[in-house]
Order: sequence, then structure tokens, then C-alpha cells
Amino acid sequence: MLVHVPALLNSERLAHFRRQLDADNAPWVDGRVTAGHQGVHVKQNQQIAEGSALAVELGNIVLAALERHPLFISAALPNRVYPPMFNRYQGGMHFGSHVDGSIRLLPGTGQKIRTDISATLFLAPPDSYDDGELLIEDTYGTQTVKLAAGDMILYPASSLHRVNPVTRGTRLACFFWVQSMVRDDGQRRLLFDLDASIQRLVATGADDAAVLQLTGVYHNLLRQWAES
Ligand code: NI
Repeated sequence: MLVHVPALLNSERLAHFRRQLDADNAPWVDGRVTAGHQGVHVKQNQQIAEGSALAVELGNIVLAALERHPLFISAALPNRVYPPMFNRYQGGMHFGSHVDGSIRLLPGTGQKIRTDISATLFLAPPDSYDDGELLIEDTYGTQTVKLAAGDMILYPASSLHRVNPVTRGTRLACFFWVQSMVRDDGQRRLLFDLDASIQRLVATGADDAAVLQLTGVYHNLLRQWAES
């Protein structure tokens, strides 16, 4: 399931992010430092050093925004979120076709996170760079994603995906993974649709008893499928 989460960051926040990421002393490193053996041959970009003060500061702002965003909660049903990272592509940089590693070590904790969902939060306006689309292969074919600054896409970490070469300007993004309470993408989609339907019934003044019953169905399915 691909879910477009609009306006996770407002323009004020975006300006703050871009100022910090564009600063001369921003700790950009070769993106291959976090690539697995599969990615290292196809990955060509830069990342803010993982665990640096800047990555932590901006990452915490993203995490706080996620906690307040009902669409993200409903779509991802997050259990754990990997500390957000930041990347940039310019001058032809790209990331060839790959699948994200299934298990990642949470830095500094020894704990592991299963990557059920991949997230890309776009930080640069789409007209400020050419190409650089995120291409995601899903069951309906290849989806092309290039979103407004501040918007985020959620997609299955299991899907083949790539980033086209950036031929002008700079593509800035934040990316991270989510371990969901509901591991199966199909079950997560059913819960997402059911939740959206219940919200709409509430908003349009549907019969209270029926809404209550459906809400019970939602929670009882979640209880059956959720793992903690
Ligand atoms: Ni990836």
C-alpha cells in the first residue's frame, strides 16, 4: 500500500530544515556508509552522519510531527520508528533498484527493528530540481513519486524501488523505516480502509450504534493482528 501523507512539515519548519542542511558545516557523508552489500553498488548520494547532533535535532522534529499526524498513525500503526535520516542527491546522483534491508540495528541500543514500511519525506520543492523521482514497483506497476516539500510517502519496505538521477538542483529528503504493530501489508490496508470509513461515517452523522459496532470491529481486528 502506498500512502501519501500531505503537509507533515509546515513552511516554517521546512525553512529551518533547509537552512540547517544547506549550512557549510552540515555533516554530509557518502551515503554508502549505511548501505548493505546489495545497496553499495547502486547507491550514489550523500547523507547526514547518523547520530550527529543535526540528525538527532531534525529527526526529533520529524518524530514529533509523526506522533501528531492521524493519517500516519492510521496507515502505519507504528510500533517502532527508526531514527530519521537525511539525504541529498545532486549532479547526477541516484540510487539504483534495491529492496531495503529487512532488519536494522537501532543505533546505540543493540535492539533490532523490522522494516515493514519505508518512508520518504520530501524537503525540497519539486521545481527546484529536475528528475530525482522515487520509483516504486507495486502490484499495480511502477509508481512515480515526486511530492511537494513537506509531504511524505509511505510504501512497503519489501518493494523494489529506486531514485532517478538528479540532473539539476538538489533533492533533499528525510527517510526512515517503521516496524508496524501489524506486519502484513494486506491486513494493514484493511484496517486503514476501515478506519477511514468509520471517520467518514462519524463526520457525516451516521447512526451512532452502527458506528460503535464498526469501531468495535476495528479494534477487535487490531487486537487479533497486532503484535507488540
Ligand atoms: Ni531504499
